[in-house]
Amino acid sequence: MGIPFIEPHIDLGFTENFLTMMRAYPHGKMHLGAEGYASIKEVEIRALDTIFTLHADHEQNASTTVVRGVASTGAHPYVAISSGISALWGRAHGGANESVIAQLEYIGSVENVEAFIERAKDPDDDFRLMGFGHRVYKNFDPRATILKKLQDELQETLNLDSELMAIARRVEEIALSDSYFISRNLYPNVDFYTGIILTALKIPKSMFTPIFVIGRTVGWISQWIEFKQDKTSKIARPRQSYQGE
Ligand SMILES: CC(C)(COP(=O)(O)OP(=O)(O)OC[C@H]1O[C@@H](n2cnc3c(N)ncnc32)[C@H](O)[C@@H]1OP(=O)(O)O)[C@@H](O)C(=O)NCCC(=O)NCCS
Repeated sequence: MGIPFIEPHIDLGFTENFLTMMRAYPHGKMHLGAEGYASIKEVEIRALDTIFTLHADHEQNASTTVVRGVASTGAHPYVAISSGISALWGRAHGGANESVIAQLEYIGSVENVEAFIERAKDPDDDFRLMGFGHRVYKNFDPRATILKKLQDELQETLNLDSELMAIARRVEEIALSDSYFISRNLYPNVDFYTGIILTALKIPKSMFTPIFVIGRTVGWISQWIEFKQDKTSKIARPRQSYQGE
């Protein structure tokens, strides 16, 4: 964005430092709003910190499995992590929160929401509601409950009253009461709320996966260490069952 690099501030915690480094100018003024360091609100720090914590590790999801698979070949941890980043980027995984916001922008207005919900329900249309459903959770994801509360708090504290927020609220409201979504156990997932929270924190959507990576790297490295310390670990080798001719 052409903004000068900001050194970390020794008196600030990790997440506050990160937000400050994203927003400040070297002379102490904020990039967004000129009120100085005080313009970062406590709820903003707590929201991003919660996202980092909730994303730290989440069992054998696609990207973690990739990290362990690459680690099992004896490859360097940096390449194992970078493979994990590639796997995370897809829209069915960590890329989902970026897709949530892109989709809300595409829907465009509250009046259009119902037509898009109909498309999501149509078996002949491959349009899916981004930020709904989960490969494992077939009930409300406990992380989503925490994030929804934070999103509401942010919305109130920062006075966020945009069309995008209104569209998000309407999508959530309809999907939570529609029999298609209820019968298939499709609830808003973490990506639905993190997409909205990161937007409220003025982070560009192309940076959402890197934010996820900051949190998840803790888990990937822990998984890498665990794999290396286990003397019985062998190279990953799923068996193939040939079903064809
Ligand atoms: C996450 C996801 C990949 C999980 O997929 P899954 O567990 O394999 O679920 P399935 O693809 O088997 O879907 C089950 C049913 O729900 C429907 N469905 C699932 N997610 C849907 C969505 N987001 N919008 C509309 N319909 C959806 C499917 O069409 C299918 O309907 P059917 O039984 O009539 O055929 C899927 O829900 C999805 O694509 N969600 C949107 C992307 C997203 O938010 N990803 C982040 C995950 S944390």
